[in-house]
Amino acid sequence: MASHSRNIDIDMDKDNNSYNKNNKNDILVTPWEVHGDLEDKNYVKLIEKFGTQSISQEIIEKIKKLTGEVHPLIKSQYFFSHRDLDWILNKYEKGEPFYLYTGRGPSGFIHIGHILPWLFTKYLQDKFGSKLLFQITDDEKFLYNVGITKETISNYTYENLLDIIAIGFNPKLTKIIIDTKHINHLYPIATEIARKITFSTAKAVFGFTNTTNIGMIGFPPIQAAPCFLPSIIEKVPTPVLIPAAIDQDPYWRVTRDIAEKLGFYKPAQIHSKFLPSLSRLYKMSSSKPETAILTIDEPEIVEKKVLSAFTGGQPTISLQRKLGANADICPVYWYLKYFFDDEKESFERYIKCKSGNLLCGECKSDLANHTRDFVIEFKAKREKAKDKVEEYMFD
Ligand code: TYM
Repeated sequence: MASHSRNIDIDMDKDNNSYNKNNKNDILVTPWEVHGDLEDKNYVKLIEKFGTQSISQEIIEKIKKLTGEVHPLIKSQYFFSHRDLDWILNKYEKGEPFYLYTGRGPSGFIHIGHILPWLFTKYLQDKFGSKLLFQITDDEKFLYNVGITKETISNYTYENLLDIIAIGFNPKLTKIIIDTKHINHLYPIATEIARKITFSTAKAVFGFTNTTNIGMIGFPPIQAAPCFLPSIIEKVPTPVLIPAAIDQDPYWRVTRDIAEKLGFYKPAQIHSKFLPSLSRLYKMSSSKPETAILTIDEPEIVEKKVLSAFTGGQPTISLQRKLGANADICPVYWYLKYFFDDEKESFERYIKCKSGNLLCGECKSDLANHTRDFVIEFKAKREKAKDKVEEYMFD
């Protein structure tokens, strides 16, 4: 664990930005680590602790009105929380377009958990015609992980770029920013931001300690900068919506605090839950490749990983037939639900599982087939991405 991480939750009191000690049973979420049970009740607690909002029926109706539909990841509450989503939709309705902003810290290969918010971001781009800034924080990952070399980060940056481009973002509307390459665009804004954030706030929000290296302490304004870059590019205050998992929220909290002081809109967010690892015990992470499905995995490896996944099943077939299994704690069920099953299929699978009419082997086999096909198709897109890198780069 890096020295600046502490075993406390980012639990910023809405009024005074202070931490509280993390309750043992709660989920621990920082931009660099996530621990605890990824259960729905813990996500509800996160909304309270982070001071975000759940996505109300009113917002869902507004989305439906503007786009004609509601994305399955919103319906299934995978995207479960937000800040100012209603505000940004109202602005859009009145004719003020918004930018999308999301990113990646290139510390390893891409897994299917990363892919979900990016697929959703592409969907938003297509639906709202939004321009997108995609930041690659190669500096963050170098500073955070004291054991990693610049060469390794640079290799992951290139590999991750292929995944990002393979998502299929509109090249005319999308620009990728690599921090160490495009720092000249970020630095002027980052210094404005940095001047407004005290060390005391940074400690409270990120858990920095006396042993944190000063590069990490100085980093947050670099991730905040793309929130304001659209206003500078467009030469008019421009709303920005950030789709990401909720682990990135601490960055947006400090950014929102100082936005208006600098003459910018507060960035809005839509937060997702975490895709769990194949063992269910923690979020999927490329630092634990044995329990993650990576986009560079060979199809037979994907199949092997899926077949050895944890499930909510009973110890024996006869018990499962008799008692049913527990889809609520089953990563296999969740992957099928979020990636491959439609609403009806997922509902039917749930009922059959609970009533003992479905065995885990059948779900695993469905998931293995879907995931293998997905990875094969995605690999082909990654290959094609090799010729498109320059097209997507920030100028
Ligand atoms: P990183 O590389 O840790 O994660 C990239 C994106 O994937 C999300 N994510 C997950 N989502 C679901 N399930 C998981 N298991 C999972 N693991 C990661 C993250 O929330 C993120 O959306 N500092 C950032 C890079 C960054 C960024 C941004 C991210 C820079 N600017 C703006 C989001 C928005 C990072 O290291 O992300």
